[in-house]
Amino acid sequence: MCGIVGYIGDKKAYPILIKGLSRLEYRGYDSAGVALIQDGKILNVYKRQGKVQDLVDFANDFSTEGTVGIGHTRWATHGEPNDVNAHPHFSGDENIVLVHNGIIENYEIIKKELTKRGHEFKTETDTEVLVHLIEEIKENSQVSIEEAVRMALKEVHGAYAIVLISKDSPDKIIAARKSSPLVIGLGEDEYYVASDATPIVEYTKNVVYLEDEQIAIVDRKNGLRIISIGNTEVSPYVQELEMQLEELEKGGYDHFMLKEIYEQPRAIHDSFRGRLNAAESWIALGGIRDYENQIANADRIVIIACGTSWHAGLVGEYLIEDLARIPVEVEYASEFRYRNPIIRPNDVVIAISQSGETADTLAALKMAKEEGATLLGIVNVVGSSISRVTDAGSYTHAGPEIGVASTKAFTTQVTILAMMAMLLAKKRGTINQTRFQNLLNEMEAIPEKIEYLLTSNDYIKGIADNYKDAANALFLGRGSCFPIALEGALKLKEISYIHAEGYPAAEMKHGPIALIDENMPVFVIATQGPNYEKVVSNIQEVKARKGKIIAIVTKGDTIVKDIADHYIEIPETDELLVPILATVPFQLISYHIAVMRGCNVDQPRNLAKSVTVE
Ligand code: AGP
Ligand code: GLU
Repeated sequence: MCGIVGYIGDKKAYPILIKGLSRLEYRGYDSAGVALIQDGKILNVYKRQGKVQDLVDFANDFSTEGTVGIGHTRWATHGEPNDVNAHPHFSGDENIVLVHNGIIENYEIIKKELTKRGHEFKTETDTEVLVHLIEEIKENSQVSIEEAVRMALKEVHGAYAIVLISKDSPDKIIAARKSSPLVIGLGEDEYYVASDATPIVEYTKNVVYLEDEQIAIVDRKNGLRIISIGNTEVSPYVQELEMQLEELEKGGYDHFMLKEIYEQPRAIHDSFRGRLNAAESWIALGGIRDYENQIANADRIVIIACGTSWHAGLVGEYLIEDLARIPVEVEYASEFRYRNPIIRPNDVVIAISQSGETADTLAALKMAKEEGATLLGIVNVVGSSISRVTDAGSYTHAGPEIGVASTKAFTTQVTILAMMAMLLAKKRGTINQTRFQNLLNEMEAIPEKIEYLLTSNDYIKGIADNYKDAANALFLGRGSCFPIALEGALKLKEISYIHAEGYPAAEMKHGPIALIDENMPVFVIATQGPNYEKVVSNIQEVKARKGKIIAIVTKGDTIVKDIADHYIEIPETDELLVPILATVPFQLISYHIAVMRGCNVDQPRNLAKSVTVE
């Protein structure tokens, strides 16, 4: 939930750390801090509540010299966001400083024991306990700093990505992780450490993704060494990053979110590139090839996810059950992990996650692993924790998604799920070749249909202007578009702070219709399909109570256009692929309303891009 950076080399560390933190700020941002070792002996630490810029403004008055340093942007879990609780945190003797992403679950017990031994704590954080524990072990056992880290982490329960430096070992950076991500960049006689690759990619493309319970010791003279928490040497697996720096820039758009909405045609194309060929009539998901039979013969598929990814899972349920006739259950990961669910070895569990680091999803997946289920991932971040716990999976290839509100990750997740459903249906013989071919043709046409949809952006912005001051909103859909109603509501509420709810359209008469009056905008997906007439009736019910209707209709619709207050036409496609297209107008409406309301679209209040704590 936070951003971690570290640097050791021959350059000035401070500007590298600050630029790196700015790239990571979307991950969590209630405070920020840096620590630098100057002249190999002076440890300077600056930390402030607020944005990275607040830190820079503060540090301007002090020395920022030094070629080794660490930095952190915090999303608090223990201790309110303030200057004191901001990271880095000192050991008692102020020789060691440490930054941390995650939660030390047993920190109270350790804190009590250390207090008994005379340690004094200055903060309310769990993190400070860890750096004191390392100090205690180092001093009492007279071991190296890396050995002290290893011994301390064996006592720690919970999730951590940590980076630390020490005045006594000024030529070393030590990093370790368990359940929270860490990447090491290998430069020319210089090393970078970060929570993900975005702060590293402009300096080097050679990276090592640290695995769980591994400790990296980066020494200015001896380079990179990795050991396990069990003290076995690990040979670093160096990968070459494919991500380009420009992908991280806004590319001329006002916000990352708008850029990522417009990237959807390419992202969806990249998600089926090399995996689907309509002309030759095949689908091939290489990442799950070895498990196709297991999945096709599964007793059931359990999809676990959070937030928008959970909405993608709901669409997947409609697609897989309708096409492949395999029972699917979709679970909130946060509920699944604690409700003592029944998981059987012949179950297939699919974790859907953009970041691949969502704590609840990762924990639910590990629980399913213990029960012997087959684990698949639909993840966007290559090398992320969830992708490494699963047996197999398909990356969404959406590229970095920086905006906190997920857009291209969602539509690419649905694309992968649609391909999985089509592949399984073909394998199980539950659809005929004509239906299969039609789905292939329509899937290949989706990117250009979204390109067409995006040409309506200004028109959609005009519609949004009518509803920017609404206090509440309803989103309605039926069938595989019901999850799109949920997704549209989440988009609106998370970036514009307007309260919004999604419902199956038929549910209105069971209570929500009591909310309808002239101040209630109701966004309805009313595209051609088996439920069309029923949705038209639902629209009439809303109009009869003076509700405002904004309808998404199939291009050429003549009926709903005459009833709705506003309508947006989307191109015709296979009924099961409508969810991908219908999402885009809701993304744009929410984006424009949020901008009109002056909201921080890319970093909405209280939210962070990757929820790596419970
Ligand atoms: C999406 O708009 C939200 N920001 C949030 O619900 C997100 O989808 C959720 O936190 C899951 O994240 P993940 O896909 O990275 O696991
Ligand atoms: N648990 C630590 C704290 O609250 C780290 C939180 C984070 O991941 O930023 O300071």
